[in-house]
Formats: sequence, C-alpha cells, structure tokens
Amino acid sequence: MRTKIINHIEDLIPPKKMLSHKDAKAYHDSALHNIATIEKHVSVSEDASILDVGCAAGRLALPFIGRLKGNYEGFDIKENLIEWATNNITTRYPNFRFTYFSVKNSVMNRSGIVDGNEFVFPFLDGSFDLIIFHSIFTHLMPDVAKRYLAESSRVLKDTGFLYITFYVWDRETESCVASNDTRWTFPHQMGECRVHDPNRPEDAVSFHRDWIYEQALKNGLGVRNFVQGAWRNARNHAQDYYIFRKHVS
Ligand SMILES: C[S@@+](CC[C@H](N)C(=O)[O-])C[C@H]1O[C@@H](n2cnc3c(N)ncnc32)[C@H](O)[C@@H]1O
Repeated sequence: MRTKIINHIEDLIPPKKMLSHKDAKAYHDSALHNIATIEKHVSVSEDASILDVGCAAGRLALPFIGRLKGNYEGFDIKENLIEWATNNITTRYPNFRFTYFSVKNSVMNRSGIVDGNEFVFPFLDGSFDLIIFHSIFTHLMPDVAKRYLAESSRVLKDTGFLYITFYVWDRETESCVASNDTRWTFPHQMGECRVHDPNRPEDAVSFHRDWIYEQALKNGLGVRNFVQGAWRNARNHAQDYYIFRKHVS
C-alpha cells in the first residue's frame, strides 16, 4: 500500500496536554516509524481490517489515513483520548473508529468496571488482517495478557498478523539491565511476570521469552518474526516486538 501525503495532519494530532510525545512532530514521526516497522514484515493492503488495541488518541491510525479503504478499529480504556479521536478523526474519516471500554488497570484506569481478564473483544471471529498492540503488553498483568492473546487469536483472520511489543525477559536481558543505565530493570518477580515497581505493577511489565512462546502456542499462534529493541542496552524507548501468525490446521 502506498502512503498518500495528507495536508492537514496537524488537525489529527491531539493538543499538547494529551500528547504522549514531546511535540506534534515527534508524535507523528514516531507513528510513521512504528507502522513502517510493521510493514517491513507485513504487507497491509488498502482494504485491510486493522485492530489497534490500546490505541490512545489514534497515533498509529495516522499513517493509514488517506490510504486505508478498509476499516481501522481502535479501543482504549482512556475515555478522554477516545472522545478526542472520535471527534477529530472519525468525523473526517468514518472508516476509522475509536471505542472506549471501561476496563480496569491499576495505574491507567483504577475506576474501570470490567476486569481485563474477563473482557470480550466486541468483534466477530476472524475479523482482522492485522492486530496491533504497541506498548500495551508492557502494561498488562499476566491474567489480562492471557485473555487479550486469546481474544486476539479469536478475532484474527487465519491469514492475519498479530504485532505485539514486549519487554522480553531472559538471561541476556537480565545481564544487560544489570550493567546498563536502562530506564526499567524489573527487579521484582510478581507471579508470572516481572515488574519494575510492585506498588504500581502496570507501570512496566516484563514477560519471560518462554512464557510468551507458551501462551502463543496455547492460542494457536506461531512466531513469524522477533526483533529486539534497544531498551535493555540504553535509556531508549524501543521495545522488543513479535509478529505472530495463526497455526492453521
Ligand atoms: C503507552 S500507551 C500506548 C498507546 C498507543 N498504543 C501508542 O502506541 O501510541 C498504553 C495505552 O494502553 C492503554 N491500556 C492499558 N490497559 C489497557 C487495557 N486493558 N485494554 C486496552 N487498553 C489499555 C492505555 O490507556 C494507554 O492508552
């Protein structure tokens, strides 16, 4: 799919107080970079159906605007961001939809109503060509992460791709974070994951490589690509990522 340059990108970028990046340019550039990274591995056709879980204000929708004729569905647990995206993106591009769900997260949505480990993605089986989790499994506790993997496998087409970023834990990671000046060191084992701060576990969560493979297998998913990010070697935000595909029998 070819990128079409649009002239009014600034209208699709939330105000500074809502921005997850230092300014609008950094926000947009990072989105272009993240989607280009996915497209190194996945060919996204113009009629694709895309699900962006934990979409915030639609940062990762931006690179698809003007070229995606299929549907983009994003959902998040932060109501103000979803409202902003709906009012500013969906009104201009109705095939880009954003939905708020009141799912609990002890750091990001304490007053949520639904437990993440019981949440059912409100989409039919086999609906999506590409499912994106960018910097989401790094904020989920294991029971929620398991549920989200199972739901992703259910709503992914047999031919689809699932992109998930992680802080992957293994021996190499352990020695890297011990010897480098990294932002996260995950010193605490908490059940099936490691966390940076046990008082605010969902601030930053790391899963062991074996756990990720085991959960993928349980959900009929196989690893197609794995790429290590720079986070374990320096003060860098780049997380590790996997691209999964369904094992089709
Ligand atoms: C670090 S931000 C990443 C936002 C977006 N994916 C991006 O890359 O710009 C993490 C997002 O995950 C959302 N989130 C946390 N727990 C969630 C859950 N259980 N279900 C859906 N979204 C969740 C947060 O509200 C937040 O917007």
